Amino acid sequence: MQPTEEQPTKLADTEYPIHELLQKRWSPRVFSEKPIDDDILTQLFEAARWAPSSYNEQPWRFIVARKEDQEAYSKLASVMNEFNEGWAKGAPVLVLALTKTTFDLDGRENPHAAHDLGQAIAHLTFEATRHDLYVHQMAGISPERAKNIYDLPENITPKTMFAIGHKGNPESLDEKLQQQETSPRKRKKLDNIVFDGEWKNN
Ligand SMILES: Cc1cc2nc3c(=O)[nH]c(=O)nc-3n(C[C@H](O)[C@H](O)[C@H](O)COP(=O)(O)O)c2cc1C
Repeated sequence: MQPTEEQPTKLADTEYPIHELLQKRWSPRVFSEKPIDDDILTQLFEAARWAPSSYNEQPWRFIVARKEDQEAYSKLASVMNEFNEGWAKGAPVLVLALTKTTFDLDGRENPHAAHDLGQAIAHLTFEATRHDLYVHQMAGISPERAKNIYDLPENITPKTMFAIGHKGNPESLDEKLQQQETSPRKRKKLDNIVFDGEWKNN
């Protein structure tokens, strides 16, 4: 994999060197129509499966819909808000990410379920990048609607969705999204997020 294949504006302009997969990952809003190979899609969830979790509870769950399965895809697409549905419904795969909020062992509340789900999705995302696939996560969804249409149990909480696919042509987006799609990615400075031994307001 050559990180230089990525649009130069999208490669992370890092202060210090990092792994090329981390540098290359970003969140596109346009995907090509190319489907995702079944085996590769399975590998992405295998990567998620091996994430660490509190008490090794593995509280992540995923509902997956491929574009070819129109019924399942439309059902899942209806969970997104209007803005996200506008761009994400072009993706070959949509995923709803859920947490199991109680421990398998004793039914107590698991306060770290969301933390662990995020970490599993991070694993999946970097595995995707290895296959030249891109993942765009979304908080803009209706958890209530997901609960109703999938008839979810009380201890299963829909948290986010994500779209997976190969990158598409930004020219198919409206002007504002096209501008975001091609502009450099920005981050806070390391000094603003990492503190040496003491809390620092900034
Ligand atoms: C938990 C989470 C929720 C997000 N929600 C949305 C969303 O609803 N819609 C959207 O277009 N992007 C969403 N994003 C994408 C972020 O805006 C994006 O990751 C951020 O701007 C950094 O850009 P990059 O991923 O390209 O580095 C979300 C990302 C995360 C991790």
